[in-house]
Amino acid sequence: MMYHPGQPQAQLTITFNSRSATVSTPVKVAVIYYSSTGFSAEIAKEIGEAAQKAGAEVRLLKVAELAPEAAIASNEAWAAHAAASAGIPVATPADVEWADAVIFGSPTRFGNVSSQLKQFIDMLGGLWAQGKLANKVYSGFTSATTAHGGLESTLLALYNSIHHFGGLIVSPGYTDPGVKFVDGNPYGTSHVSAQGENPIGEATRNSARHQAERVVQIAATLKAGFAA
Ligand SMILES: Cc1cc2nc3c(=O)[nH]c(=O)nc-3n(C[C@H](O)[C@H](O)[C@H](O)COP(=O)(O)O)c2cc1C
Repeated sequence: MMYHPGQPQAQLTITFNSRSATVSTPVKVAVIYYSSTGFSAEIAKEIGEAAQKAGAEVRLLKVAELAPEAAIASNEAWAAHAAASAGIPVATPADVEWADAVIFGSPTRFGNVSSQLKQFIDMLGGLWAQGKLANKVYSGFTSATTAHGGLESTLLALYNSIHHFGGLIVSPGYTDPGVKFVDGNPYGTSHVSAQGENPIGEATRNSARHQAERVVQIAATLKAGFAA
């Protein structure tokens, strides 16, 4: 996959709140997601590309599958996506340690984070114990089949763990009103897949791009600040 390793800019000047800062080492962004039928994967790809365009070094990574082969094979869309995404590297805790910013993605599962992404998060205890999850930027995105089926609760559930990390949650809010009043979710990019009938469109892509740019901007500002 094109983002592992990425093609970072050698130097990045960020302007944020009318102030400029230059970072000589690029911001490192890990986009770590689970997706069974490809919607969250499509958002992850959009976020990865946008973060790279914003000057970051990006790793686009999926988490390990936990479901039995028989379950995957019984669902055509799931089996097709598993085959199509075989080449995406599987995330390890070392990728989180490497990153300045981590953007997690998961489909909504009963209003919550998928067990696959949660299992990955639960493997971060060693880094947590060493304080290595703190002071990084984190953000999240999701996909659900219905508009009120738990998009926000999934992101809020994800963000619970980030508080335990001592992480810095960078949510989009309504910082780009033209994008966010269309997509409508200040907690992170979200997509209503409508039982697979609603492909990822411009509203979701615009939201994903805005979230990626904002994460890179703020992570770069922090990185420059920490280095000063
Ligand atoms: C076990 C399970 C639980 C789900 N729970 C919800 C839910 O609470 N709300 C909802 O709207 N969709 C729910 N869905 C649907 C998925 O969130 C939806 O299809 C999503 O777009 C899939 O994203 P993906 O293609 O990245 O896997 C659930 C699906 C499964 C298999």
